Amino acid sequence: MSGEVPRLEVRDVTVRFAGVTALDGVGFTVEPGSLHAVIGPNGAGKSTCFNVLSGLCRPASGSVRLGGTELVGLPPHRIAALGVARTFQNIALSPHLTAAGNLMLARHRLTRAGFLACGLRLPSARREERRHAARVREIAEFTGVAAHLATPAGLLPYGVRKRLELARALCLEPAVLLLDEPVAGMNGGERREMARTIQRVRAGLGVSVLLVEHDMDLVARLADEVTVLDFGRRIAGGTPEEIQRHPDVVRAYLGTEAPA
Ligand SMILES: Nc1ncnc2c1ncn2[C@@H]1O[C@H](COP(=O)(O)OP(=O)(O)OP(=O)(O)O)[C@@H](O)[C@H]1O
Ligand SMILES: [Mg+2]
Repeated sequence: MSGEVPRLEVRDVTVRFAGVTALDGVGFTVEPGSLHAVIGPNGAGKSTCFNVLSGLCRPASGSVRLGGTELVGLPPHRIAALGVARTFQNIALSPHLTAAGNLMLARHRLTRAGFLACGLRLPSARREERRHAARVREIAEFTGVAAHLATPAGLLPYGVRKRLELARALCLEPAVLLLDEPVAGMNGGERREMARTIQRVRAGLGVSVLLVEHDMDLVARLADEVTVLDFGRRIAGGTPEEIQRHPDVVRAYLGTEAPA
């Protein structure tokens, strides 16, 4: 993916729900191949921002450009096909399907062989299926879920399901990966392991990563740049060091959950 990853530019995005302005003229740029964190107190608008980027939520105004392509107004599957893949804050896997089944399902978006070829079991479709299965295994090894491929997703421990979500997003061969609280609910060891995996993904695949996370140690360790939201507004942006000393950021976190 490296070298072809487009810049992601969010400009002046506003989202209103009945009575709540969840995002208020928010803008930032994710440079190709960088890790950009979005932080802020609960309810700041972080997940809403991801919902806009992935097409689940249409903003009242504003623009999201991936390279030269406007994403606002496109349906989620088109945005995914353009190379923006995400994980969810609350795990959204199919619990009855095996881990491998979940990954193959994601892979299906990329399947060129049409229904007819599949139905007729043409050699081209079989070849394609084998190619996808091999890539699924590779991604599973990369993300540390290979030992669990035959297990129904619903029976896997929480930490493994979070990694499987990451694997599923990678199955779309994204240029930009959106991770919504990838280590939430994990213990210290699992967090460190996940942080290493995110670093490996970024270095190995050259993708841009946009990360929503409350764990400030993790953000400081991984992020090149940080955007801070509070009550739907962008109150600061910069390197992790700049952000941690920023008076508005310190103020936003006072009285709420302090950055851990
Ligand atoms: N579908 C919706 N309908 C109405 N209000 C919503 C909806 N989704 C989000 N909101 C509101 O928009 C605001 C931003 O919510 P959002 O989930 O984006 O915050 P967040 O920064 O992800 O918070 P958290 O850290 O708790 O995950 C909140 O006030 C929330 O209640
Ligand atoms: Mg959220």
